[in-house]
Amino acid sequence: MECLVLGLHPLLYIYYLCRMKNGNAIVMSGIRPTGFLHLGNYFGAMRNYVKLQEEYTCYFMVADLHALTTHPDTKELKENVHRVLAENIACGIDPEKAALYCQSHVRETSELYLYLNMLAYLGELEKTTTFKDKARLQPDNINAGLLTYPVLQAADIILHRATWVPVGKDQEQHLEMARNFVKRFNHRYGEVFPEPLAYNFGEDLVKVPSLDGTGKMSKSENQLATLYLADADDVIRKKVMKAKTDGGPTSPNMPKPDYIENIFQLMRLVSAADVVSSFEGSYDNCSIRYGDMKKQLAEDMVAFIAPIRERAESIRNDSIYLEGIMQLGAEKARKSAAATMDLVRNAMGLVY
Ligand code: TRP
Repeated sequence: MECLVLGLHPLLYIYYLCRMKNGNAIVMSGIRPTGFLHLGNYFGAMRNYVKLQEEYTCYFMVADLHALTTHPDTKELKENVHRVLAENIACGIDPEKAALYCQSHVRETSELYLYLNMLAYLGELEKTTTFKDKARLQPDNINAGLLTYPVLQAADIILHRATWVPVGKDQEQHLEMARNFVKRFNHRYGEVFPEPLAYNFGEDLVKVPSLDGTGKMSKSENQLATLYLADADDVIRKKVMKAKTDGGPTSPNMPKPDYIENIFQLMRLVSAADVVSSFEGSYDNCSIRYGDMKKQLAEDMVAFIAPIRERAESIRNDSIYLEGIMQLGAEKARKSAAATMDLVRNAMGLVY
């Protein structure tokens, strides 16, 4: 069993395990088309989605409606949606295997969102961490969509009656809220939805440190310390060469300071094993030259990122292909959504 499910009752765990073994488990996740995908998204999410699509029915969605809660200006939305889709495919998501779609193409999402809003309480929405953070960041635009962001996210997930949601730690609270909405719905109108859980990758979950030794790579903050999948070769080289180092170890087998360990960590992700171990050895015997190490890392990064960037670019430039992909994804997602919404309207008694 690859995944670790934290904080789950053992019986529930076994129940979900059985569902997975039956091969009918449904996986759903979304990504907002704000900011550029980076190496952290690749190793933390995309690479694992590519494995999931082999085993489960997967719905991967670009959350353009969620983007409106923070980015009301839609001038660049189309370009951003296309870019995220292209980058997803370039990273290995196969639109034939998974349903890869755009949130606003599935109108059923908005209908379910409306019904769920009647089951969501002001108090719980107001105390959501992400709401409080965003309200602080945009005090002049604390709109109702921002408040009900977790309701829309719950609609995305349960629209496909998904049970597994591969997301990072920052989304756990939203998932807990989704489970609460599901419980309330099922209790009031009858069992329609399974409770969705975070799919945790356990040891497959790789943290990708930023290049300045502080925290992780990020979609929008700290752009010089983050390697984006769209970065040109010379930008990658420049960023890597700027990574923080020092005068080197002063005695054999010294523990590494965080910012040095980060460089090794990045190297483990993209460089050959013998390259990494040779730098480990030269660190331990104090002969390491960080300039050489960063040059090697920069070249290995370029070799890793360039093919993804080029694939994404060529997909982005093929608007006919992209439109076809979006249509195919929307068809698959709407088929599943329509079936769920029939159950929902029936359960709610909205059939006259
Ligand atoms: N809220 C998620 C994020 O900020 C994006 C998202 C929207 C999502 N709908 C979703 C994630 C449904 C998982 C499932 O990253």
